[in-house]
Amino acid sequence: MSLDLVTAGESHGPALVAILTGLPAGLRLDRSAIDEDLHRRRQGYGRSPRQQLEADEVEVLAGLRHGVTLGTPLALVIRNRDHENWTWGMSPWPPEGEPSGKGTKPVTLPRPGHADLAGTLKYGHDDVRNALERASARQTASHVAAGAVAKALLGEIGVTVSGRAVEIGGETDADAMRAATDAARTDRDTLGGIVEVVATGVPPGLGSYAEKRDRLDARVGAALMGIQAVKAVEIGDGIALARARGSEAHDEIEPDRRRMSNRAGGVEAGVSNGEAIVTRAAMKPLPTLMRPLRSVDLESGEPGQALVERSDVQAVEALAVVAEAAVAWELARAAREKFGGDALTDFVAAHSAYVDRIGWRTP
Ligand SMILES: Cc1cc2nc3c(=O)[nH]c(=O)nc-3n(C[C@H](O)[C@H](O)[C@H](O)COP(=O)(O)O)c2cc1C
Repeated sequence: MSLDLVTAGESHGPALVAILTGLPAGLRLDRSAIDEDLHRRRQGYGRSPRQQLEADEVEVLAGLRHGVTLGTPLALVIRNRDHENWTWGMSPWPPEGEPSGKGTKPVTLPRPGHADLAGTLKYGHDDVRNALERASARQTASHVAAGAVAKALLGEIGVTVSGRAVEIGGETDADAMRAATDAARTDRDTLGGIVEVVATGVPPGLGSYAEKRDRLDARVGAALMGIQAVKAVEIGDGIALARARGSEAHDEIEPDRRRMSNRAGGVEAGVSNGEAIVTRAAMKPLPTLMRPLRSVDLESGEPGQALVERSDVQAVEALAVVAEAAVAWELARAAREKFGGDALTDFVAAHSAYVDRIGWRTP
């Protein structure tokens, strides 16, 4: 059985939902560890006031008993506190009474860089909100909750995953990142940046070169590219490798089969090679601008200015948490494929037997 995830939920709807299938039975989950990751996702300089409004605590509806997984689908819910301001506008059923609160008027001015125009055309909506609500990065909260569960599973075999922002608005120093964010806010503009996710303790052998869909780099790359606003992904030295000679690009092998460098970022031929898995994702500047870009009014066909809605100036530190969750989820899936396990003890025993067979010791 493979580890799989399906999520649902609109940004201002009643709740976000995640259903995780294929988790081994017997995995102990720590509610505070999941909530801590949800909290981290809401942090970061340059976030919108929405982040203070949401409390983001996970509720578990199924698959867990006394904090331990049952091996059945795990159903997680995160309520949207802000929904109380949108009960009419985002009512799942035809709303009763006079329109009140937010979201009562259709949005007709699509933002360049967001889902607004393509989503409206694709699904035949007459209100851009019907596209933007699900496209919004609010849904990353459910992926972060799933990632926390994945990290718990990976922790059982000594794998850790952590993400951090390495560049914001072209700046790499923390003070300069803040100054760039302040300057963009003053100019009513937005910024992007770069995050790095590193996974340690991954044994050689996750993923496969047999088919391109099985390749670990392809899978991790897709997981990162699937996050809102990510426009480029690197594994290891990535693009810089294209400019190096072979003698400077590959990681020479020590007698104990470890590497003298890690330019490959821990993956060769789509298979983990035992070194740390190092990935980077580049985030474009956020599309909601307080000084809006030119657009078209989809109702009248007249030129107009794009929708202005409460928004972050930049969300690179939040992306680091979301990217960490995405990498953790994909590594947990690959580990579950390699080590199986309806019961956690089977999963852990298969991992031990494998590392014994190849004589691999985590440094
Ligand atoms: C953690 C996070 C927070 C985001 N916050 C915002 C935001 O406040 N305003 C905004 O316009 N876009 C925000 N985005 C980006 C949009 O969701 C994204 O650009 C949009 O869905 C279009 O998708 P694309 O950029 O992948 O093409 C955020 C993305 C992430 C990962």
